[in-house]
Amino acid sequence: MTSKTNREQERAWNGDEGAYWARHHELFEGSLARYQPAFLAAAAIEPGHRVLDVGCGTGVTTRAAAAAAPAGHAVGVDLSSAMLDVARELAGRAGLANISFERADAQVHPFRSGAFDVVISRTGSMFFEGPRAAFANLCRGLAPGGRLVLLTWQQPGRQEWINEFARALTGRELPASAPGGPGPFSLSDPDEVRAVLGAAGFTGIELTAVSEAMNYGRTVGEAHEFLLGLLGWMLQGQDDARRAASAENLRRVLAGHATPDGVCFGSSAWLITARSG
Ligand SMILES: C[S@@+](CC[C@H](N)C(=O)[O-])C[C@H]1O[C@@H](n2cnc3c(N)ncnc32)[C@H](O)[C@@H]1O
Repeated sequence: MTSKTNREQERAWNGDEGAYWARHHELFEGSLARYQPAFLAAAAIEPGHRVLDVGCGTGVTTRAAAAAAPAGHAVGVDLSSAMLDVARELAGRAGLANISFERADAQVHPFRSGAFDVVISRTGSMFFEGPRAAFANLCRGLAPGGRLVLLTWQQPGRQEWINEFARALTGRELPASAPGGPGPFSLSDPDEVRAVLGAAGFTGIELTAVSEAMNYGRTVGEAHEFLLGLLGWMLQGQDDARRAASAENLRRVLAGHATPDGVCFGSSAWLITARSG
């Protein structure tokens, strides 16, 4: 069910990374909450629409799609069993009957041709080893004239969040441009996005820049624990004293970003829209 090339992503998402995300789903889903209004406005889901949510994670956008399409339905696909378990539970709690989830690699899953009116993905479409093949597969799943709506990150140099965290924990920022290959910044270059989606069969490709604050927790303590768990890999190679100093640096940075609404950092994304055929 997973293409050979996506096995590494599957190991991460269907392993520790996905499990951490599932355990902290409220914080992960909440961190992107300020992007949700623009994302849903672009998705423009109508009552009868059939919606596919790619890399749906714990399903916050799938639930929103299902609620907007009471006479249609929303299907969420993801690589992570742990995240999908949470997605199913939350959809059940929300009382949504027109929603389903499937563990699938969106790059190769045999979606029925023309089965969807809208394909959405909120930061879930940057992890394909073969992006052209993956988006061609999604294009086949769309009805003629169906719409693709993605939220992806702009270049790392435009992300206060990851650079502040990296500087606090390692003393260095990330390189300003994204490296090639699958990862959070693989769809950050507009020319590359147009080339990939165009080659996959999409037309009318438009990118709109959107900037919002990411919220990492209600308190500094909550954000600190959450981020140390998430970014522990950045401390690799540091001895105990250095690790303690790095953790303290991070706490100081978080305290500087505490607001009445939470611990917030700037970020920049692309809202990408396109049509099949
Ligand atoms: C950054 S998370 C975003 C989750 C969710 N869309 C949200 O906004 O909360 C990326 C998600 O994409 C999923 N993913 C990565 N590659 C995938 C693939 N080839 N097929 C399906 N899901 C994939 C991961 O398992 C992960 O849940």
